[in-house]
Amino acid sequence: MLVNLKEILAPAYEKHYAVGSFNCYSYETFRGCITAGEEMGAPVIAAFGAAYLANMSLETAHAIAASLAREADVPVCLHLDHCSEVDVICRAIKAGFGSVMYDGSALPFAENVANTRAVCRAAHACGVSVEAELGSLGVGVDSHEGRAEDVEQYTDPEAARDFIAATEVDALAVSIGTVHGLYKGKPYIRTDILEEIHRAVDVPLVLHGGSGTPEEDLRACIARGIAKINVNTEISSAVVAQTTQLLTREKPHYSTLSLRQVDYVKTVVKKYIELFECR
Ligand code: 13P
Repeated sequence: MLVNLKEILAPAYEKHYAVGSFNCYSYETFRGCITAGEEMGAPVIAAFGAAYLANMSLETAHAIAASLAREADVPVCLHLDHCSEVDVICRAIKAGFGSVMYDGSALPFAENVANTRAVCRAAHACGVSVEAELGSLGVGVDSHEGRAEDVEQYTDPEAARDFIAATEVDALAVSIGTVHGLYKGKPYIRTDILEEIHRAVDVPLVLHGGSGTPEEDLRACIARGIAKINVNTEISSAVVAQTTQLLTREKPHYSTLSLRQVDYVKTVVKKYIELFECR
């Protein structure tokens, strides 16, 4: 069944587990993500990035997710990932998304607050949840989301408290050392900053840049208020690497290749579901 982000994150935040948010932009990624959740009896978030509008429309993304979620016996949230354009957010709400991320992290604080608050008013009136971001992530290898000019800036705990009070967002993405893409060097995750943010605010926190983050860091983050963890690059890398290997051995019909790719997606998603202890 399709649910909004607030519903899927509330029990996770309370019981200290995280729900995986997996980027979906094709039939294979949606099916791999949702059936992995179904097979493991775990909730999942299918995140359609605004960056993937060339792959499919918001309406198509909703139609695929809604159809697969109807067949699944677990909560599924269709979420719009990283979007700084309010008109696209309004279209996603109209298309039936249960959650949207307004990303004003590159803007000055006051502007980020004003825009996020306006998005929250519109979304909440339709029963749609909102995630926002404060601070900004660095960019790693093979990132498909970060921009070369993105500079890492940690989230300030005091600013996070003011931001949430002023905007009424349902979930806040924080910057504590994870990067979009794979790490260039050894990851250094600032769980000390996360702990301060967690003490300062009372909403589920979101960790972007899940790919390649050491398991012990992910567990430490979940214990400190992270209730949603985003994974994109690792799914893409696994599917491309395994498809490449397969094609050196066989020349399958495309329909068979599509099914294999669903399995490649599922394997990565299941690994994270297990790790996030969300079942
Ligand atoms: P990764 O590509 O590093 O897993 O990050 C995903 C993400 O944060 C999606 O918003």
